[in-house]
Amino acid sequence: MAKNAIVWGASGAIGRAFVNQLAADGWKVLGVSRHPEDLADLTDHRLTADVADPGRVREAVHAAGMTLKSLDLYVYAAGDITSVPVREMEPHDWHRILNANFSGAYLTTHHSLKLLNEGAHVVYIGAVSERLRLPGLSAYGAAKVALEAFADALKKEERKLNVLVVRPGAVDTDFWEKVPMSKPKSALSPEDVAQRTLEAIANGEKGTLDL
Ligand SMILES: NC(=O)c1ccc[n+]([C@@H]2O[C@H](COP(=O)([O-])OP(=O)(O)OC[C@H]3O[C@@H](n4cnc5c(N)ncnc54)[C@H](OP(=O)(O)O)[C@@H]3O)[C@@H](O)[C@H]2O)c1
Repeated sequence: MAKNAIVWGASGAIGRAFVNQLAADGWKVLGVSRHPEDLADLTDHRLTADVADPGRVREAVHAAGMTLKSLDLYVYAAGDITSVPVREMEPHDWHRILNANFSGAYLTTHHSLKLLNEGAHVVYIGAVSERLRLPGLSAYGAAKVALEAFADALKKEERKLNVLVVRPGAVDTDFWEKVPMSKPKSALSPEDVAQRTLEAIANGEKGTLDL
């Protein structure tokens, strides 16, 4: 029987790679994005939501339940980055980065838990958080550290779920155009991230996965 997955941030480079790989592997995959029309070539199951909007997230999960009934995999691949010193960081930028990388993970998890089957996998795309304590990255670095603490607590609360934080190094996506740093030549492809993560969960890995 086909397994069911939901991917948040599904129009992003890594999110699309998950949707694509899951669909190719025979999963029924629901992509949630602020512009789900971008996913028309990948899946018939698409929903609109900003992960910072509690009402839209609740509605999206309700619609997911109507379509898929239950979930075997939740992937959180939304994220945003800016490089701005604290002295110049405006509150709306701070909240945008915290919402995309951290609070949205709480909100989408909070609503999705009721749909997750026993033994389901919960995957957050984090980062190598200890390497992010850099000038300009206060919001992004704090959000990725917080995401790991959140996932650790969730893992202890929801013992019948398999919670995994994926910590890619550099990935070759447009994310790098938002920061004044050079993308390393060794950057992984988004497809590598999706494939290696899906292999890891198929092997029962949980906790953290450094890529
Ligand atoms: N690229 C890297 O080197 C790298 C390395 C380590 C970790 N990561 C993590 O990987 C994840 C995906 O990044 P990516 O490289 O694939 O970048 P990306 O292509 O920019 O994807 C990020 C996605 O997040 C979505 N998003 C941001 N804020 C949102 C919100 N409030 N509501 C709904 N969606 C929102 C964006 O939606 P829109 O399309 O609507 O803007 C975009 O589709 C991020 O968490 C990032 O931190 C990336």
